[in-house]
Amino acid sequence: MKRAVAGVVVSLCVAAGGVHLMAQAKFLALSPGFPLWAYGYKTAPAAPEDWSGRCPGTRPRDCDRPGGLPADTTGARLTIPGSGRSFTVSEITSPFDPADWFPDDHPPMPDIVAHGKRDSGFRACAICHYPNGLGLMQNGPVAGLPVDYFLRQLADFASGRRRSADVNKANAFEMAAMARNLTPEEARAAAEYFGSMKFTPWVRVVESATVPTFTATVNGLFMKAEGNETEPIGRRLVEMPEDTYQSNMLRNPRSGMVAYAPMGSLKAGETLVKTGGDGRTQPCGACHGPDLRGTAVAPPIAGRHPGYLARQMYDMQQGARNGEAAKMMRASVEKLTGDDLVAITAYVASLQP
Ligand code: HEC
Ligand code: HEC
Repeated sequence: MKRAVAGVVVSLCVAAGGVHLMAQAKFLALSPGFPLWAYGYKTAPAAPEDWSGRCPGTRPRDCDRPGGLPADTTGARLTIPGSGRSFTVSEITSPFDPADWFPDDHPPMPDIVAHGKRDSGFRACAICHYPNGLGLMQNGPVAGLPVDYFLRQLADFASGRRRSADVNKANAFEMAAMARNLTPEEARAAAEYFGSMKFTPWVRVVESATVPTFTATVNGLFMKAEGNETEPIGRRLVEMPEDTYQSNMLRNPRSGMVAYAPMGSLKAGETLVKTGGDGRTQPCGACHGPDLRGTAVAPPIAGRHPGYLARQMYDMQQGARNGEAAKMMRASVEKLTGDDLVAITAYVASLQP
């Protein structure tokens, strides 16, 4: 009897695991519409690794992809004009105490934001999102989000209703593992802290037929290559730091992003965003507010990282991000093509946040 019961349980688990894997398989970079650029790939990964299994939920740092951060080769103390502080690269990338270059730019950080939790392997929120919440494209902008929305995202990450459509995206699994382990007090402290700050202009959008030749880090950050070569932009939106050294090496929270979009993107995006494009999508302002700076229903999206925004819209289209509130986005994303994503997110990112 016992055996039979155990057998049923096992086969149910296997079945559930199988469904999960099949659902994930269709999200791999190999699916035809996958916007590689939004997930920080120049080319599709040859053999995507499934990072979901690396993050059992107790030690989030097990999800950390090796080589994601620059190495400290010299041990030199580096500076940023106007900061008055100096840090080594190891200090800048310290998992539990990352550099805070401009403490006067933000309120005092709650412990979880500044230090994470060394014992259980939680990195500080500030290392990925920056102390000011403006962050880098491969993570996400958390400054200026309503507290309710912020807490809902943590709950959806924790329950698995918010995943990445890319099983290779290690930092998204780390994010989810952390969300599962935050106490309600820590979650609220982080939400109130980041919510108390404004999302200030951070991304410059440029229409261009070419883009500076660039490389991608293992964590999905595009960076301008050395020299002055360019390459055709193709049908991509390419977001990268204005200054690779300031962002990748120093993590300077005052050095922003530039996003290159194909010629004509802004006009095409504006039409889709304002009119819904004859039913291809919905007018975004109806929920996100006329200037897309957020309402009680939907979060602010104006001026935020276009790479991040596009990734979220694709995740929602594929059902990987599927919380109750995210379902309100279904009619806005289900028919979108890759070109629509480029146009819409270029336009939204070009607006005043
Ligand atoms: C390893 C880097 C990393 C760390 C550390 C990290 N996050 Fe994140 N966070 C991410 C990534 C990556 C995403 C976006 C996931 C995606 O694109 O699929 C994200 C997204 C979020 C979002 C959703 C933003 C939105 O607009 O919906 C919230 C909220 C958030 N993080 C809060 C936190 C908090 C609170 C902490 C600290 C307890 C934290 N994060 C630490 C990587 C990180
Ligand atoms: C019917 C209401 C509605 C419409 C119309 C709508 N949205 Fe949303 N959108 C939402 C809600 C609600 C959320 C928050 C979902 C959640 O909590 O997970 C959201 C979330 C998003 C996000 C994720 C933000 C983040 O920080 O992760 C993006 C990006 C987005 N919407 C873009 C758009 C764009 C672009 C349009 C128009 C083409 C649009 N939305 C139209 C309701 C809407």
